[in-house]
Amino acid sequence: MCQGSSSPLSPRVKAILEEFQASLEQGISKLSVLNDEEIHQTELEKIFGKRWNFLAHESEIPNKNDYVLRSIGDDSFIVSRGSDGEIRVMLDICPHRGASICRAEKGSSSHFQCPYHGWTFKNNGDLVGTPSFKDAYSGLNRKEWGLTHAPRVEIFHGFVFATLDENAPDLKESLAGIGWYLDMIFSLQDEGMEVLGEPQRFVIKANWKIAAENFSGDDYHLLTLHKSTYDIGVMQIPLRENMKGYHIQAGNGHGVSFSIDLESKDPLFFYYPEEIVKTFNLDNLTDKQIELARGSRVCVGNIFPNISFLMLPLSPDPKTIPPTPLFTWRVWQPKGKDEIEVWNWFMMYKNTSEEFKRASYRAAMSTFGIAGTFELDDAIPWETITKNAKGTFARKKMNLNLQMGMEGMGVAKQVMDWPFPGIAYYPRYEEGNQRHLYRHYLEEMLSEE
Ligand code: FES
Ligand SMILES: [Fe+2]
Repeated sequence: MCQGSSSPLSPRVKAILEEFQASLEQGISKLSVLNDEEIHQTELEKIFGKRWNFLAHESEIPNKNDYVLRSIGDDSFIVSRGSDGEIRVMLDICPHRGASICRAEKGSSSHFQCPYHGWTFKNNGDLVGTPSFKDAYSGLNRKEWGLTHAPRVEIFHGFVFATLDENAPDLKESLAGIGWYLDMIFSLQDEGMEVLGEPQRFVIKANWKIAAENFSGDDYHLLTLHKSTYDIGVMQIPLRENMKGYHIQAGNGHGVSFSIDLESKDPLFFYYPEEIVKTFNLDNLTDKQIELARGSRVCVGNIFPNISFLMLPLSPDPKTIPPTPLFTWRVWQPKGKDEIEVWNWFMMYKNTSEEFKRASYRAAMSTFGIAGTFELDDAIPWETITKNAKGTFARKKMNLNLQMGMEGMGVAKQVMDWPFPGIAYYPRYEEGNQRHLYRHYLEEMLSEE
């Protein structure tokens, strides 16, 4: 993965992407971009090498010297809270001969020692130890041989992001309109959110864009793929009713979707129980944000390129447990053209009883955990799409349909006086968010920079 100018596109890839760009304006997408080695390598450079990537939440490394091991594309990074309390993101590569330094994925340590020849680094990245220094390296200027830092790191409501591009716009600017919606969610409580347990990881044999598309605004699939989950009462907002709400193209390829009950007189706040709503500090929100949060039942979105989130009430056992709000935050980490490692964090507002956190975690695990009902449903079509995108004939022939909500297609209409950031459509029978994602994707892939 590199920063600065990237390698030129091959004529073959350029032709595929340009054809996609032209067809997208008619709502046509291409199967051929969903399983292609050259396109994958280009994405690592031009997308993941340039955008802000999420690595960890502050609550995972709450104390001085805590660290976790994370990655961006194929690069591994140590996310460390130094002895000075500052969070740093450094390549997990020893500058001596290139070995990996960190043997554990999580821990607490003031220093890291490379297992190969023993070079030792402080957790701020400084090289402080070289075995047999006098005999082996007496002339070495240790200052020049510390760990390599990610060029820029920013923290947003406790979420640690890094970009590998020194010249990337600031995180806030890069988040564009979706920052406003995330501010709304994360500012509800003064204390913000924390991670519950460890992030789960699992592999799906699917291309990352399929998952990103899905979370950016594919509510349509709920009607079929997740119908059984509704039938047994895990989700209790009626299926058709749940389609009432907005799709918002939030700029820079980001998409967010809200299920909203426009008729409700009572504040909904995602169905958080009253004792939790009481802990919300609405002074943190603008009037507009309060208005949206009050009416919201479900919020789902994708931060371009591959960070998705979802907040909604689900019941792990409909006969005995009422729906409990949960929050999942996930990264679709590309591990090749046809594979993602899903990193899945369950989170909850910090100032909440342990009992509620356990209930939320349980609801989350049974629906969006590794063996969760929704998660298993989703993985199957995502894998078949990826497998199908390998076929020689299919790659040439298959145009895919992203026309829902375009002129003459269904009932969705643009909300002309939308008072919040972005371009909104109502109701959620609509694929504008996916078109927005791909439009931005193609701009970045075809840019000459
Ligand atoms: S490779 Fe790390 S000390 Fe030699
Ligand atoms: Fe789904």
